[in-house]
Amino acid sequence: MVDPEVFDFWVRHLNPAWSWSRPLATIVERRVEARDTVTLVLKPNRHVGDFLAGQHVNVSAEVNGRRVTRSYSLTNVPSQGRSRRLSITVKRVEGGALSTHLVQQARVGDVLGIGPAFGEMTLPPQPQGRWLFLAAGSGITPLMGLTRALAAQRMPVDLTLLYWVKTHAELCFLQELRALSTRFPRMRLQVIVTHEAASVPGEAQGLISASQLAELVPKLSEHQVFACGPGGFVVTARELCAERCQAFIAEGFTPAAPSGIAGARGNGVDVNANANVEAEAHAHASTVRVTLQRTGRELRLSTGLSLLEALEAEGLNPPSGCRMGVCHSCVCPRVEGTTQDMQSGETQSEANMAVRLCVSRACSDLTLDI
Ligand SMILES: Cc1cc2nc3c(=O)[nH]c(=O)nc-3n(C[C@H](O)[C@H](O)[C@H](O)COP(=O)(O)OP(=O)(O)OC[C@H]3O[C@@H](n4cnc5c(N)ncnc54)[C@H](O)[C@@H]3O)c2cc1C
Ligand code: FES
Repeated sequence: MVDPEVFDFWVRHLNPAWSWSRPLATIVERRVEARDTVTLVLKPNRHVGDFLAGQHVNVSAEVNGRRVTRSYSLTNVPSQGRSRRLSITVKRVEGGALSTHLVQQARVGDVLGIGPAFGEMTLPPQPQGRWLFLAAGSGITPLMGLTRALAAQRMPVDLTLLYWVKTHAELCFLQELRALSTRFPRMRLQVIVTHEAASVPGEAQGLISASQLAELVPKLSEHQVFACGPGGFVVTARELCAERCQAFIAEGFTPAAPSGIAGARGNGVDVNANANVEAEAHAHASTVRVTLQRTGRELRLSTGLSLLEALEAEGLNPPSGCRMGVCHSCVCPRVEGTTQDMQSGETQSEANMAVRLCVSRACSDLTLDI
């Protein structure tokens, strides 16, 4: 009887987190976690789905009149019922649209859009054995969620957490991590600073390397490794560990390359292959005609950009999230034409196949079902 859009419009005046069907969450707490980094505790409405420790969600907010969506890892242990909460920890990226908004402008009472949880870096039903967490910078966030979940199970594994930060001012969750490693003898915490001298006894220094890992984790071959951080860190961690440990699972946070090409880093993607695809695409960039089937609109888009970036450059705002090919929010059917997957370098021309706009570029005139 009631149009959901109309319902949402009117009900928003009573409570901005009420909606007919949209998953929304209200900021109920804001804590400064470290320099340029805040934790936001969110109270979800009933449309927000469940999540597992180690997963991420796409968070949206209006920034300068435009809806912006990015992925953030959930750092708390999942809970149920009316007291259910989500927490995210956001580090401000210089010039970054959403991170700057969330760290500097967002306040208690603000309402954010929340997408479904995604990500494979989760706990097995019965965690056991020796685990090694490798966290760099804001890559600590999903690993913090997993550490808290393991602590809630009274630490069923031998856990070593190596945590790299550029400077001490960037360290997040330090007190809690130290308290957990004191409470659980099976947990060991090692902080490593890369752009400052180590100043606390027991701290290590320097970028991740084979010799550093050999010193800090003598029995690497007995460990399952979980790595998270910027793309370059994840690639190095993979090179150093993947062939020498029991299992290796990693997630990279690095977004689209500054060159303007979406380059997924980590997540099992060969970063050198990406770089080659990007360089090739740039060297031979031209424009093609892209038809948006639903509106009939025709655009000329560069073949040197991901389709997502090219559409955004034309003022469009297609759904997106991670911008790295992981969350699938930007998937849309390619009705006809040829695209290249910028992660694998593969070209695809089959009609009516789904493409991820953030990691695909146009190779010919295209029709997209948007
Ligand atoms: C699965 C996943 C989980 C994530 N979880 C977290 C999290 O828990 N906490 C968190 O703080 N971030 C996390 N991120 C990164 C986050 O999604 C955004 O990319 C980041 O907050 C920047 O968004 P922005 O809108 O501020 O920057 P944008 O406006 O997208 O970018 C502005 C400029 O900054 C550069 N840039 C963007 N992100 C970074 C970065 N991370 N490091 C260096 N330069 C960058 C871009 O290339 C661009 O030039 C995660 C990313 C992924 C893919
Ligand atoms: S935005 Fe996440 S897969 Fe494209």
